[in-house]
Amino acid sequence: MNAFSFYNPVKLIFGKGQLEAVKKELPKYGKKVLVVYGGGSIKKNGLYDEVMAALGEAGLEIFELAGVEPNPRISTARKGIEICKKEGIEMLLAVGGGSVIDCTKLIACGAKYDGDAWDLVSRKAKATDGLPFGTVLTIAATGSEMNAGSVITNEETQEKYGWGSPFSFPKFSILDPTYTLTVPKDQTIYGIVDMMSHIFEQYFNNAVNTPVQDRMCEGVLKAVIETAPKLMEDLNSYEHRETILFAGTMGLNKFLEMGYNGDWGTHNIEHAVSAVYDIPHAGGLAILFPQWMRHNVKQNPSRFAQMAERVFEVDPEGKTAEEVAYEGIDRLQQFWTSLGAPTRLEDYEIDDSKIEIIADKAMVYGEFGNFAKMDKENVIEILQASL
Ligand code: NZQ
Ligand code: ZN
Repeated sequence: MNAFSFYNPVKLIFGKGQLEAVKKELPKYGKKVLVVYGGGSIKKNGLYDEVMAALGEAGLEIFELAGVEPNPRISTARKGIEICKKEGIEMLLAVGGGSVIDCTKLIACGAKYDGDAWDLVSRKAKATDGLPFGTVLTIAATGSEMNAGSVITNEETQEKYGWGSPFSFPKFSILDPTYTLTVPKDQTIYGIVDMMSHIFEQYFNNAVNTPVQDRMCEGVLKAVIETAPKLMEDLNSYEHRETILFAGTMGLNKFLEMGYNGDWGTHNIEHAVSAVYDIPHAGGLAILFPQWMRHNVKQNPSRFAQMAERVFEVDPEGKTAEEVAYEGIDRLQQFWTSLGAPTRLEDYEIDDSKIEIIADKAMVYGEFGNFAKMDKENVIEILQASL
């Protein structure tokens, strides 16, 4: 294993009826709260009313920022920061998915920063403080509810980067599977692809002697693979929503990454694609990840073969490790296709005209990828194979 230190301060509050906890958790940090949410799904499914009632009962003074977009934008975060500074906001509550939570993380740190918040995303400056915030998660996908990461798009410059700081961990996150029952089919699929991709990013690393971590990753992947088709059959199943919600959090709260140094190259390429084309994050991953895998099998065929055998139950009898590896990747792609995920960039009407631009954006911080180093040529090859 790699040497590591592990820290995750997020209080995870999981299960039916847990929204009640917001009344106890938020007032710890003050009286004035900014509630941040997205394009209106919480108004349609009644969660907005429940949250407002709970905050009212807790005697809090409520301010609102609505309209956080999927692939949240810097301009929206700036609006939130302005409200915080003007009104003396003491804490925030994100009610929504990864986009709402990521935007809230930037508002929290930006409210305590004197310059423009894009500095924090573009690594020009580091956050040195942040307002406390909690989350009420409404979609299983990113793991943002239990990590410090945030991904923000600058719509003017067509840049999309991940950033994070010790001040961007939520203080608490409330996860009631009930609130995920209304997630539409396409977003449910994206969430499943995203959480599986997070586990692949971590699983493909160059550490040795990691049997505990490997089995944990494989276990979560298998639970998702077993549950996802059943959830597709019955989107109203509380039981399957519960499993997938928990899997999404475990996929990226960094428990699985202890002792590993995950690759994260595919995420870097996808962020560059969605910076230029504003496609759903996991739609991009469903297309790119199998191609990244095929591109890098030769890096360590037995690592891919292990995944193929243990997760996708490929029979290794009479086959080389490489053959087993490729079969596993095919099965992964078939699995995602069977759920309804896209397979080619052309599904989003993306052709080769901006491949250079995307590759340059992916290379902005130089070569990347901890399992397999990616240079511009590699990125272009993966994008070409994904068309
Ligand atoms: O905006 P509303 O109206 O709320 O609708 C949302 C949105 O249209 C809808 N939705 C969410 N919960 C719902 C619901 N609709 C009905 N019922 C519900 N209960 O779903 C749509 C997508 O929401 P979004 O928050 O964008 O989805 P997700 O959680 O997948 O977040 C994606 C964003 O997270 C970033 C991605 O790049 C992307 O910007 N990521 C963040 C990470 C992190 N912070 O750790 C890691 C990830 O790899 C990822 O990059
Ligand atoms: Zn992701």
